Amino acid sequence: MSAGEPATPGTSSLRAQQDLLLQLFPFHFTVGADGRIHALGSRWASMPGGVREGAAFDQTFSVVRPVGLAGHRDLTRRPEDVFVLRLRSSGGPSFRGQFLPSRGPDGEDWVHFVGGPWVTSLSALSEHGLELRDFPPHDPRGDMLLLMQVQESSLAEMRKLAANLQQRMEEQARLENQIRHIQKMELVGRLAGGMAHNFNNILMTISSYAELALMQAEGDAQARESLQEILAATEHATSITRGMLSMSRRHPVRMEDLDLGTELEELRRFTEPLLGRQAVLHLDVDPDARGVHSDSSCLKQILMNLVLNARDAMPAGGTIRIHASVQPPEEHLAGCEASRVCITVADTGTGMDEATKARVFEPFFTTKPSGKGVGLGLPTVYGLVQQVGGSIDLESRLGVGTTFRVVLPAARGTALPAASRTETANPGGHVLLVDDDPAVRKPMEQLLLRAGYQVTPASSAEAAIETLGGGARFDAIVTDIVMTGLSGVQLAGAIEARVGKVPTILMSGHNEDAGLKVESLPRHQRFLTKPFSSEHLLATLRELLSR
Ligand SMILES: Nc1ncnc2c1ncn2[C@@H]1O[C@H](COP(=O)(O)OP(=O)(O)OP(=O)(O)O)[C@@H](O)[C@H]1O
Ligand SMILES: [Mg+2]
Repeated sequence: MSAGEPATPGTSSLRAQQDLLLQLFPFHFTVGADGRIHALGSRWASMPGGVREGAAFDQTFSVVRPVGLAGHRDLTRRPEDVFVLRLRSSGGPSFRGQFLPSRGPDGEDWVHFVGGPWVTSLSALSEHGLELRDFPPHDPRGDMLLLMQVQESSLAEMRKLAANLQQRMEEQARLENQIRHIQKMELVGRLAGGMAHNFNNILMTISSYAELALMQAEGDAQARESLQEILAATEHATSITRGMLSMSRRHPVRMEDLDLGTELEELRRFTEPLLGRQAVLHLDVDPDARGVHSDSSCLKQILMNLVLNARDAMPAGGTIRIHASVQPPEEHLAGCEASRVCITVADTGTGMDEATKARVFEPFFTTKPSGKGVGLGLPTVYGLVQQVGGSIDLESRLGVGTTFRVVLPAARGTALPAASRTETANPGGHVLLVDDDPAVRKPMEQLLLRAGYQVTPASSAEAAIETLGGGARFDAIVTDIVMTGLSGVQLAGAIEARVGKVPTILMSGHNEDAGLKVESLPRHQRFLTKPFSSEHLLATLRELLSR
Protein backbone atom coordinates (compact mmCIF):
# COMPACT_ATOMS: atom_id res chain seq x y z
CA MET A 1 0.00 0.00 0.00
CA SER A 2 1.22 3.57 -0.70
CA ALA A 3 0.26 7.22 -0.27
CA GLY A 4 -1.37 7.25 -3.69
CA GLU A 5 -3.34 4.05 -2.90
CA PRO A 6 -5.92 4.68 -0.20
CA ALA A 7 -6.80 2.01 2.37
CA THR A 8 -10.29 1.51 0.98
CA PRO A 9 -10.11 2.50 -2.60
CA GLY A 10 -13.05 2.70 -4.91
CA THR A 11 -15.23 5.64 -4.15
CA SER A 12 -14.50 9.10 -5.49
CA SER A 13 -15.29 10.72 -2.13
CA LEU A 14 -12.55 8.68 -0.53
CA ARG A 15 -10.06 9.82 -3.18
CA ALA A 16 -11.12 13.43 -2.60
CA GLN A 17 -10.56 12.95 1.15
CA GLN A 18 -7.15 11.50 0.40
CA ASP A 19 -6.25 14.44 -1.82
CA LEU A 20 -7.33 16.93 0.83
CA LEU A 21 -5.30 15.07 3.41
CA LEU A 22 -2.27 15.25 1.17
CA GLN A 23 -2.69 18.94 0.63
CA LEU A 24 -3.34 19.93 4.22
CA PHE A 25 -1.04 17.52 5.95
CA PRO A 26 1.87 16.59 3.68
CA PHE A 27 3.49 14.92 6.72
CA HIS A 28 0.57 12.60 7.46
CA PHE A 29 0.92 8.85 7.78
CA THR A 30 -1.11 5.80 8.64
CA VAL A 31 -0.16 3.06 11.11
CA GLY A 32 -1.63 -0.38 10.45
CA ALA A 33 -2.67 -3.01 12.98
CA ASP A 34 0.72 -4.62 12.53
CA GLY A 35 2.42 -1.46 13.95
CA ARG A 36 3.97 -0.63 10.58
CA ILE A 37 3.71 2.64 8.73
CA HIS A 38 1.66 2.80 5.54
CA ALA A 39 0.32 5.55 3.31
CA LEU A 40 2.91 8.30 3.80
CA GLY A 41 2.32 12.00 3.04
CA SER A 42 4.16 13.43 0.03
CA ARG A 43 6.63 15.55 2.00
CA TRP A 44 8.39 12.62 3.71
CA ALA A 45 10.13 11.56 0.52
CA SER A 46 12.18 14.77 0.36
CA MET A 47 13.11 14.83 4.07
CA PRO A 48 16.68 13.84 4.77
CA GLY A 49 16.57 10.53 6.69
CA GLY A 50 12.78 10.65 6.32
CA VAL A 51 10.29 8.01 7.35
CA ARG A 52 9.96 5.06 4.93
CA GLU A 53 6.94 2.91 4.21
CA GLY A 54 6.77 -0.36 6.10
CA ALA A 55 8.97 0.91 8.92
CA ALA A 56 7.86 -0.09 12.44
CA PHE A 57 6.18 2.89 14.16
CA ASP A 58 7.77 2.09 17.52
CA GLN A 59 11.26 2.16 16.03
CA THR A 60 10.64 5.33 14.04
CA PHE A 61 8.96 7.55 16.62
CA SER A 62 8.91 7.92 20.36
CA VAL A 63 5.81 9.45 21.93
CA VAL A 64 6.59 12.61 23.90
CA ARG A 65 3.02 13.54 24.85
CA PRO A 66 0.76 12.39 26.36
CA VAL A 67 3.19 11.15 28.97
CA GLY A 68 2.77 7.45 29.66
CA LEU A 69 1.86 6.27 26.17
CA ALA A 70 4.41 3.63 25.28
CA GLY A 71 3.87 3.12 21.57
CA HIS A 72 1.62 1.87 18.82
CA ARG A 73 -0.37 -0.54 21.01
CA ASP A 74 -1.28 2.22 23.49
CA LEU A 75 -2.37 4.50 20.68
CA THR A 76 -4.98 2.05 19.41
CA ARG A 77 -5.99 0.93 22.87
CA ARG A 78 -6.57 4.39 24.38
CA PRO A 79 -7.79 6.57 21.48
CA GLU A 80 -9.45 9.05 23.92
CA ASP A 81 -6.04 9.96 25.36
CA VAL A 82 -4.54 10.73 22.00
CA PHE A 83 -6.06 14.13 21.42
CA VAL A 84 -2.86 16.08 21.22
CA LEU A 85 0.11 14.03 20.30
CA ARG A 86 3.78 14.83 20.12
CA LEU A 87 6.22 12.45 18.50
CA ARG A 88 9.94 12.57 18.14
CA SER A 89 11.32 10.91 15.06
CA SER A 90 14.63 9.18 15.45
CA GLY A 91 17.29 11.47 14.08
CA GLY A 92 14.73 13.99 12.78
CA PRO A 93 12.46 16.73 14.12
CA SER A 94 9.47 16.36 16.40
CA PHE A 95 5.90 16.35 15.10
CA ARG A 96 2.73 17.60 16.70
CA GLY A 97 -0.82 16.74 15.72
CA GLN A 98 -3.65 14.27 16.29
CA PHE A 99 -4.15 10.56 15.83
CA LEU A 100 -7.46 9.64 14.29
CA PRO A 101 -8.57 6.02 14.92
CA SER A 102 -10.12 4.22 11.95
CA ARG A 103 -10.83 0.76 10.59
CA GLY A 104 -8.67 -1.05 8.11
CA PRO A 105 -10.08 -3.02 5.11
CA ASP A 106 -10.48 -6.13 7.28
CA GLY A 107 -11.97 -4.26 10.18
CA GLU A 108 -8.76 -4.07 12.12
CA ASP A 109 -7.69 -0.97 14.16
CA TRP A 110 -5.79 1.64 12.14
CA VAL A 111 -4.71 5.14 13.13
CA HIS A 112 -4.00 8.20 10.96
CA PHE A 113 -1.56 10.90 12.02
CA VAL A 114 -2.44 14.43 10.91
CA GLY A 115 -0.15 17.28 11.94
CA GLY A 116 3.12 18.93 11.13
CA PRO A 117 6.67 19.44 12.26
CA TRP A 118 7.40 20.96 15.65
CA VAL A 119 10.45 23.20 15.82
CA THR A 120 11.12 26.28 17.90
CA SER A 121 14.11 27.79 16.16
CA LEU A 122 15.06 28.79 12.64
CA SER A 123 18.29 26.84 12.90
CA ALA A 124 16.31 23.64 13.63
CA LEU A 125 14.31 24.38 10.53
CA SER A 126 17.31 24.28 8.25
CA GLU A 127 18.96 21.49 10.26
CA HIS A 128 16.05 19.16 9.47
CA GLY A 129 15.61 20.22 5.88
CA LEU A 130 12.33 21.97 6.65
CA GLU A 131 11.03 25.18 5.18
CA LEU A 132 8.66 27.88 6.35
CA ARG A 133 6.09 26.77 3.79
CA ASP A 134 5.89 23.39 5.54
CA PHE A 135 3.72 25.28 8.03
CA PRO A 136 0.23 26.02 6.79
CA PRO A 137 -0.77 29.70 6.63
CA HIS A 138 -1.58 31.16 10.05
CA ASP A 139 -0.24 28.16 11.81
CA PRO A 140 1.01 29.69 15.09
CA ARG A 141 4.32 27.85 14.77
CA GLY A 142 4.75 29.08 11.23
CA ASP A 143 3.92 32.63 12.33
CA MET A 144 6.40 32.43 15.17
CA LEU A 145 9.15 31.15 12.87
CA LEU A 146 8.34 33.80 10.32
CA LEU A 147 8.66 36.47 13.02
CA MET A 148 12.00 34.99 14.06
CA GLN A 149 13.16 35.05 10.50
CA VAL A 150 12.18 38.71 10.16
CA GLN A 151 14.00 39.50 13.40
CA GLU A 152 17.07 37.61 12.33
CA SER A 153 17.25 39.22 8.96
CA SER A 154 16.81 42.69 10.45
CA LEU A 155 19.55 41.80 12.94
CA ALA A 156 21.77 40.87 9.99
CA GLU A 157 20.81 44.15 8.35
CA MET A 158 21.74 46.02 11.54
CA ARG A 159 25.06 44.19 11.71
CA LYS A 160 25.71 45.22 8.11
CA LEU A 161 24.84 48.82 8.98
CA ALA A 162 27.14 48.72 12.00
CA ALA A 163 29.98 47.36 9.85
CA ASN A 164 29.29 50.10 7.33
CA LEU A 165 29.38 52.71 10.06
CA GLN A 166 32.63 51.30 11.35
CA GLN A 167 34.09 51.42 7.85
CA ARG A 168 32.99 55.03 7.46
CA MET A 169 34.51 55.95 10.80
CA GLU A 170 37.78 54.34 9.78
CA GLU A 171 37.69 56.19 6.46
CA GLN A 172 37.04 59.44 8.33
CA ALA A 173 39.96 58.72 10.68
CA ARG A 174 42.16 58.05 7.65
CA LEU A 175 41.09 61.30 6.02
CA GLU A 176 41.67 63.22 9.25
CA ASN A 177 45.12 61.69 9.39
CA GLN A 178 45.74 62.74 5.83
CA ILE A 179 44.57 66.28 6.54
CA ARG A 180 46.84 66.43 9.58
CA HIS A 181 49.71 65.32 7.34
CA ILE A 182 48.86 67.95 4.76
CA GLN A 183 48.66 70.58 7.50
CA LYS A 184 52.08 69.45 8.66
CA MET A 185 53.44 69.89 5.13
CA GLU A 186 51.70 73.26 4.96
CA LEU A 187 53.46 74.22 8.19
CA VAL A 188 56.80 73.07 6.79
CA GLY A 189 56.07 75.22 3.74
CA ARG A 190 55.19 78.23 5.91
CA LEU A 191 58.33 77.81 7.99
CA ALA A 192 60.41 77.40 4.87
CA GLY A 193 58.70 80.44 3.33
CA GLY A 194 59.39 82.53 6.41
CA MET A 195 62.97 81.39 6.44
CA ALA A 196 63.53 81.57 2.69
CA HIS A 197 63.65 85.36 2.52
CA ASN A 198 66.51 85.76 5.00
CA PHE A 199 68.24 82.55 4.11
CA ASN A 200 68.25 83.26 0.38
CA ASN A 201 69.62 86.78 1.00
CA ILE A 202 72.52 85.22 2.88
CA LEU A 203 73.06 82.67 0.11
CA MET A 204 73.00 85.53 -2.40
CA THR A 205 75.78 87.30 -0.48
CA ILE A 206 77.89 84.13 -0.29
CA SER A 207 77.48 83.24 -3.94
CA SER A 208 78.03 86.83 -5.18
CA TYR A 209 81.25 87.22 -3.22
CA ALA A 210 82.39 83.74 -4.27
CA GLU A 211 81.80 84.67 -7.91
CA LEU A 212 83.65 87.96 -7.51
CA ALA A 213 86.54 86.22 -5.80
CA LEU A 214 86.56 83.65 -8.59
CA MET A 215 87.05 86.42 -11.13
CA GLN A 216 89.76 88.01 -9.03
CA ALA A 217 91.63 84.74 -8.46
CA GLU A 218 92.22 84.25 -12.17
CA GLY A 219 95.75 82.83 -11.97
CA ASP A 220 95.34 80.88 -8.72
CA ALA A 221 94.04 77.42 -9.61
CA GLN A 222 93.82 76.25 -6.01
CA ALA A 223 91.84 79.27 -4.81
CA ARG A 224 89.52 78.93 -7.82
CA GLU A 225 88.87 75.28 -6.95
CA SER A 226 87.97 76.21 -3.35
CA LEU A 227 85.66 78.96 -4.58
CA GLN A 228 83.98 76.55 -7.02
CA GLU A 229 83.30 74.28 -4.03
CA ILE A 230 81.69 77.19 -2.17
CA LEU A 231 79.49 77.90 -5.18
CA ALA A 232 78.50 74.23 -5.45
CA ALA A 233 77.58 74.24 -1.74
CA THR A 234 75.39 77.36 -2.17
CA GLU A 235 73.69 75.68 -5.11
CA HIS A 236 73.02 72.66 -2.91
CA ALA A 237 71.68 74.83 -0.07
CA THR A 238 69.42 76.61 -2.58
CA SER A 239 68.02 73.32 -3.83
CA ILE A 240 67.21 72.28 -0.24
CA THR A 241 65.21 75.49 0.38
CA ARG A 242 63.46 75.04 -2.96
CA GLY A 243 62.66 71.42 -2.09
CA MET A 244 61.02 72.49 1.17
CA LEU A 245 59.04 75.21 -0.59
CA SER A 246 57.88 72.94 -3.38
CA MET A 247 56.35 70.48 -0.87
CA SER A 248 53.67 73.06 -0.22
CA ARG A 249 53.68 74.38 -3.80
CA ARG A 250 55.26 77.63 -2.66
CA HIS A 251 58.08 77.16 -5.05
CA PRO A 252 58.52 80.20 -7.24
CA VAL A 253 58.72 79.07 -10.84
CA ARG A 254 61.25 80.66 -13.15
CA MET A 255 60.44 79.64 -16.69
CA GLU A 256 63.25 79.94 -19.20
CA ASP A 257 64.74 78.15 -22.17
CA LEU A 258 66.98 75.40 -20.85
CA ASP A 259 69.58 73.22 -22.49
CA LEU A 260 68.46 69.68 -21.68
CA GLY A 261 71.94 68.22 -22.18
CA THR A 262 73.35 70.50 -19.50
CA GLU A 263 70.42 69.97 -17.16
CA LEU A 264 70.71 66.19 -17.42
CA GLU A 265 74.45 66.20 -16.88
CA GLU A 266 73.89 68.24 -13.69
CA LEU A 267 71.22 65.77 -12.66
CA ARG A 268 73.70 62.95 -13.17
CA ARG A 269 76.18 64.73 -10.91
CA PHE A 270 73.58 64.98 -8.11
CA THR A 271 72.05 61.54 -8.42
CA GLU A 272 74.87 59.20 -9.31
CA PRO A 273 76.29 59.12 -5.78
CA LEU A 274 72.80 58.05 -4.59
CA LEU A 275 72.42 55.22 -7.08
CA GLY A 276 75.07 52.88 -5.73
CA ARG A 277 76.94 50.41 -7.89
CA GLN A 278 74.01 48.31 -9.10
CA ALA A 279 71.93 50.90 -10.95
CA VAL A 280 73.37 52.35 -14.13
CA LEU A 281 72.09 55.67 -15.47
CA HIS A 282 72.02 56.23 -19.26
CA LEU A 283 71.30 59.66 -20.72
CA ASP A 284 70.21 59.99 -24.31
CA VAL A 285 69.08 63.33 -25.75
CA ASP A 286 68.02 63.52 -29.40
CA PRO A 287 69.86 66.44 -31.04
CA ASP A 288 66.62 68.27 -31.88
CA ALA A 289 65.27 67.86 -28.33
CA ARG A 290 67.91 69.82 -26.52
CA GLY A 291 65.81 72.86 -25.65
CA VAL A 292 62.93 72.90 -23.14
CA HIS A 293 61.06 75.84 -21.71
CA SER A 294 60.90 75.09 -18.01
CA ASP A 295 62.20 75.86 -14.55
CA SER A 296 65.61 74.37 -13.97
CA SER A 297 65.16 73.37 -10.35
CA CYS A 298 61.61 72.02 -10.96
CA LEU A 299 62.92 69.93 -13.84
CA LYS A 300 65.74 68.51 -11.76
CA GLN A 301 63.44 67.76 -8.86
CA ILE A 302 60.96 66.00 -11.16
CA LEU A 303 63.66 63.82 -12.72
CA MET A 304 65.45 63.22 -9.42
CA ASN A 305 62.26 61.80 -7.86
CA LEU A 306 61.65 59.56 -10.86
CA VAL A 307 65.25 58.32 -10.87
CA LEU A 308 65.23 57.57 -7.13
CA ASN A 309 61.94 55.68 -7.45
CA ALA A 310 63.49 53.69 -10.32
CA ARG A 311 66.49 52.89 -8.14
CA ASP A 312 64.19 51.69 -5.32
CA ALA A 313 62.34 49.46 -7.80
CA MET A 314 65.60 47.69 -8.72
CA PRO A 315 66.99 46.29 -5.46
CA ALA A 316 69.16 43.86 -7.41
CA GLY A 317 70.34 46.52 -9.82
CA GLY A 318 69.47 47.34 -13.41
CA THR A 319 69.37 50.18 -15.91
CA ILE A 320 67.72 53.58 -15.71
CA ARG A 321 67.43 55.20 -19.12
CA ILE A 322 66.48 58.84 -19.58
CA HIS A 323 65.61 59.64 -23.17
CA ALA A 324 64.54 63.02 -24.56
CA SER A 325 62.86 63.34 -27.93
CA VAL A 326 60.71 65.87 -29.72
CA GLN A 327 57.00 65.34 -29.88
CA PRO A 328 55.63 66.86 -33.08
CA PRO A 329 52.96 69.51 -32.63
CA GLU A 330 49.46 68.11 -32.44
CA GLU A 331 47.67 70.68 -34.49
CA HIS A 332 44.31 69.01 -34.14
CA LEU A 333 44.44 69.54 -30.35
CA ALA A 334 43.77 73.05 -29.09
CA GLY A 335 46.73 74.39 -27.16
CA CYS A 336 49.11 71.78 -28.57
CA GLU A 337 50.21 73.64 -31.68
CA ALA A 338 53.74 74.08 -30.39
CA SER A 339 56.38 71.39 -30.30
CA ARG A 340 56.86 69.61 -27.04
CA VAL A 341 59.74 67.64 -25.63
CA CYS A 342 59.07 64.18 -24.28
CA ILE A 343 61.37 62.90 -21.55
CA THR A 344 61.03 59.26 -20.56
CA VAL A 345 62.56 57.72 -17.44
CA ALA A 346 62.56 53.94 -17.89
CA ASP A 347 63.72 51.31 -15.43
CA THR A 348 64.13 47.54 -15.50
CA GLY A 349 62.69 47.13 -12.02
CA THR A 350 59.83 45.31 -10.35
CA GLY A 351 57.06 47.14 -12.20
CA MET A 352 53.64 47.74 -10.67
CA ASP A 353 50.33 45.95 -10.57
CA GLU A 354 47.18 47.76 -11.73
CA ALA A 355 46.11 48.69 -8.20
CA THR A 356 49.46 50.35 -7.42
CA LYS A 357 49.59 52.05 -10.80
CA ALA A 358 46.19 53.62 -10.18
CA ARG A 359 47.29 55.22 -6.91
CA VAL A 360 50.88 56.37 -7.43
CA PHE A 361 50.03 60.09 -7.63
CA GLU A 362 47.93 59.95 -4.45
CA PRO A 363 49.54 61.85 -1.56
CA PHE A 364 50.93 59.50 1.10
CA PHE A 365 50.48 56.41 -1.01
CA THR A 366 53.56 54.26 -0.63
CA THR A 367 54.39 50.57 -0.76
CA LYS A 368 57.73 51.13 0.94
CA PRO A 369 58.36 50.27 4.59
CA SER A 370 58.05 53.21 7.01
CA GLY A 371 61.27 55.14 7.11
CA LYS A 372 61.91 54.28 3.45
CA GLY A 373 59.14 56.30 1.82
CA VAL A 374 56.31 58.63 2.75
CA GLY A 375 54.52 58.68 -0.58
CA LEU A 376 55.11 62.35 -1.39
CA GLY A 377 57.58 61.89 -4.24
CA LEU A 378 55.16 61.42 -7.11
CA PRO A 379 52.48 63.83 -5.82
CA THR A 380 55.22 66.48 -5.68
CA VAL A 381 56.33 65.50 -9.20
CA TYR A 382 52.73 65.80 -10.38
CA GLY A 383 52.38 69.28 -8.85
CA LEU A 384 55.68 70.45 -10.32
CA VAL A 385 54.87 69.13 -13.79
CA GLN A 386 51.59 71.08 -13.67
CA GLN A 387 53.42 74.19 -12.53
CA VAL A 388 55.74 74.13 -15.53
CA GLY A 389 52.89 73.51 -17.95
CA GLY A 390 53.65 69.87 -18.69
CA SER A 391 51.93 66.52 -18.36
CA ILE A 392 52.94 63.12 -16.98
CA ASP A 393 51.83 59.52 -17.46
CA LEU A 394 53.30 56.07 -17.03
CA GLU A 395 53.44 52.54 -18.32
CA SER A 396 54.37 49.63 -16.11
CA ARG A 397 54.52 45.85 -16.33
CA LEU A 398 55.05 43.58 -13.35
CA GLY A 399 58.48 42.00 -13.45
CA VAL A 400 59.49 44.00 -16.56
CA GLY A 401 59.80 47.62 -15.49
CA THR A 402 58.26 51.05 -15.48
CA THR A 403 58.45 54.05 -17.80
CA PHE A 404 57.37 57.51 -16.71
CA ARG A 405 56.79 60.00 -19.55
CA VAL A 406 57.01 63.73 -18.89
CA VAL A 407 56.00 66.04 -21.74
CA LEU A 408 57.20 69.67 -21.48
CA PRO A 409 56.95 72.76 -23.68
CA ALA A 410 59.89 72.99 -26.07
CA ALA A 411 62.25 75.97 -25.87
CA ARG A 412 60.74 79.09 -27.41
CA GLY A 413 63.96 80.42 -28.90
CA THR A 414 66.92 78.20 -29.55
CA ALA A 415 68.37 77.15 -26.23
CA LEU A 416 71.85 78.53 -26.08
CA PRO A 417 74.58 76.17 -25.01
CA ALA A 418 75.62 77.24 -21.50
CA ALA A 419 79.14 78.18 -22.48
CA SER A 420 78.17 80.73 -25.12
CA ARG A 421 75.92 82.66 -22.74
CA THR A 422 78.83 84.16 -20.77
CA GLU A 423 80.67 85.08 -23.93
CA THR A 424 77.95 87.45 -25.09
CA ALA A 425 79.01 91.05 -24.68
CA ASN A 426 77.14 93.17 -22.17
CA PRO A 427 75.65 96.27 -23.77
CA GLY A 428 76.61 98.56 -20.90
CA GLY A 429 74.47 101.40 -19.55
CA HIS A 430 73.46 103.04 -16.31
CA VAL A 431 71.92 100.76 -13.68
CA LEU A 432 70.09 101.88 -10.55
CA LEU A 433 70.76 99.17 -7.94
CA VAL A 434 68.48 99.20 -4.88
CA ASP A 435 68.74 96.83 -1.90
CA ASP A 436 68.53 97.65 1.80
CA ASP A 437 70.94 94.83 2.67
CA PRO A 438 74.50 96.01 2.04
CA ALA A 439 75.73 92.41 2.12
CA VAL A 440 73.69 91.78 -1.03
CA ARG A 441 74.05 95.22 -2.63
CA LYS A 442 77.84 95.59 -2.45
CA PRO A 443 78.92 92.41 -4.25
CA MET A 444 76.22 92.97 -6.89
CA GLU A 445 77.48 96.47 -7.47
CA GLN A 446 80.96 95.11 -8.08
CA LEU A 447 79.64 92.40 -10.42
CA LEU A 448 77.74 94.96 -12.50
CA LEU A 449 80.75 97.28 -12.60
CA ARG A 450 82.96 94.44 -13.77
CA ALA A 451 80.42 93.65 -16.49
CA GLY A 452 80.83 97.19 -17.82
CA TYR A 453 77.80 98.94 -16.38
CA GLN A 454 77.72 102.26 -14.64
CA VAL A 455 76.04 101.70 -11.24
CA THR A 456 74.24 103.98 -8.84
CA PRO A 457 73.57 102.11 -5.59
CA ALA A 458 70.76 103.04 -3.20
CA SER A 459 69.89 101.57 0.21
CA SER A 460 66.15 102.24 -0.03
CA ALA A 461 63.42 103.09 -2.52
CA GLU A 462 63.20 106.60 -1.06
CA ALA A 463 66.94 107.14 -1.58
CA ALA A 464 66.60 105.86 -5.15
CA ILE A 465 63.81 108.36 -5.91
CA GLU A 466 66.01 111.14 -4.56
CA THR A 467 68.71 110.36 -7.14
CA LEU A 468 66.08 110.91 -9.83
CA GLY A 469 65.48 114.37 -8.37
CA GLY A 470 69.13 115.13 -9.13
CA GLY A 471 68.41 114.56 -12.83
CA ALA A 472 69.97 111.09 -13.11
CA ARG A 473 68.72 108.94 -16.01
CA PHE A 474 68.85 105.13 -15.86
CA ASP A 475 68.82 102.46 -18.57
CA ALA A 476 67.77 99.77 -16.08
CA ILE A 477 66.70 99.27 -12.49
CA VAL A 478 67.72 96.27 -10.38
CA THR A 479 65.77 96.35 -7.11
CA ASP A 480 64.95 94.20 -4.15
CA ILE A 481 61.20 93.92 -3.53
CA VAL A 482 60.80 93.65 0.23
CA MET A 483 62.51 96.62 1.90
CA THR A 484 61.78 98.85 4.87
CA GLY A 485 59.77 101.78 3.55
CA LEU A 486 58.55 101.65 -0.06
CA SER A 487 58.76 98.26 -1.79
CA GLY A 488 60.64 97.60 -5.02
CA VAL A 489 57.32 97.29 -6.89
CA GLN A 490 56.20 100.68 -5.57
CA LEU A 491 59.57 102.13 -6.55
CA ALA A 492 59.21 100.81 -10.11
CA GLY A 493 55.74 102.38 -10.27
CA ALA A 494 56.99 105.73 -8.98
CA ILE A 495 59.83 105.82 -11.52
CA GLU A 496 57.53 104.86 -14.35
CA ALA A 497 55.17 107.70 -13.36
CA ARG A 498 58.03 110.21 -13.69
CA VAL A 499 60.10 109.03 -16.61
CA GLY A 500 58.13 106.27 -18.32
CA LYS A 501 58.96 102.56 -18.61
CA VAL A 502 62.45 101.54 -17.56
CA PRO A 503 63.63 97.90 -17.88
CA THR A 504 63.44 96.56 -14.32
CA ILE A 505 64.63 93.44 -12.53
CA LEU A 506 62.71 92.74 -9.32
CA MET A 507 64.49 90.44 -6.87
CA SER A 508 63.31 88.61 -3.78
CA GLY A 509 64.25 85.70 -1.58
CA HIS A 510 60.74 84.33 -1.97
CA ASN A 511 58.04 85.38 -4.41
CA GLU A 512 55.23 84.83 -1.90
CA ASP A 513 56.44 87.42 0.55
CA ALA A 514 56.91 89.71 -2.43
CA GLY A 515 53.16 89.31 -3.13
CA LEU A 516 53.93 89.23 -6.84
CA LYS A 517 52.20 87.47 -9.71
CA VAL A 518 55.26 86.45 -11.69
CA GLU A 519 53.21 85.25 -14.67
CA SER A 520 51.55 88.63 -15.17
CA LEU A 521 54.56 90.93 -15.07
CA PRO A 522 54.71 93.53 -17.88
CA ARG A 523 57.19 92.90 -20.71
CA HIS A 524 59.80 95.35 -19.42
CA GLN A 525 59.99 93.66 -15.99
CA ARG A 526 61.58 90.40 -14.83
CA PHE A 527 61.53 88.58 -11.52
CA LEU A 528 64.60 86.83 -10.09
CA THR A 529 64.57 84.59 -7.03
CA LYS A 530 67.59 85.00 -4.79
CA PRO A 531 70.08 83.51 -4.85
CA PHE A 532 70.87 83.70 -8.56
CA SER A 533 74.17 83.52 -10.35
CA SER A 534 75.87 86.60 -11.79
CA GLU A 535 75.55 84.90 -15.18
CA HIS A 536 71.78 84.74 -14.76
CA LEU A 537 71.55 88.37 -13.66
CA LEU A 538 73.68 89.60 -16.56
CA ALA A 539 71.80 87.49 -19.10
CA THR A 540 68.45 88.83 -17.87
CA LEU A 541 69.74 92.39 -17.98
CA ARG A 542 71.10 91.88 -21.51
CA GLU A 543 67.80 90.48 -22.65
CA LEU A 544 65.81 93.40 -21.17
CA LEU A 545 68.15 96.01 -22.62
CA SER A 546 68.14 94.45 -26.08
CA ARG A 547 64.36 94.90 -26.44
N1 LIG B 1 59.66 53.17 -10.95
C1 LIG B 1 58.82 52.54 -10.14
N2 LIG B 1 58.72 51.19 -10.17
C2 LIG B 1 57.85 50.55 -9.35
N3 LIG B 1 57.05 51.16 -8.48
C3 LIG B 1 57.10 52.50 -8.39
C4 LIG B 1 57.98 53.27 -9.21
N4 LIG B 1 57.80 54.57 -8.93
C5 LIG B 1 56.85 54.63 -7.97
N5 LIG B 1 56.43 53.40 -7.62
C6 LIG B 1 55.39 53.06 -6.64
O1 LIG B 1 54.67 54.24 -6.32
C7 LIG B 1 54.69 54.47 -4.91
C8 LIG B 1 54.62 55.96 -4.65
O2 LIG B 1 55.82 56.59 -5.09
P1 LIG B 1 56.25 57.97 -4.42
O3 LIG B 1 57.50 58.42 -5.04
O4 LIG B 1 55.08 58.90 -4.44
O5 LIG B 1 56.46 57.60 -2.91
P2 LIG B 1 57.64 56.73 -2.27
O6 LIG B 1 58.77 56.59 -3.23
O7 LIG B 1 57.03 55.50 -1.74
O8 LIG B 1 58.07 57.66 -1.05
P3 LIG B 1 58.83 59.08 -1.13
O9 LIG B 1 57.89 60.05 -0.50
O10 LIG B 1 60.08 58.87 -0.36
O11 LIG B 1 59.07 59.38 -2.58
C9 LIG B 1 55.95 53.78 -4.44
O12 LIG B 1 55.88 53.43 -3.07
C10 LIG B 1 55.99 52.55 -5.35
O13 LIG B 1 55.14 51.55 -4.90
MG1 LIG C 1 59.56 58.27 -4.27
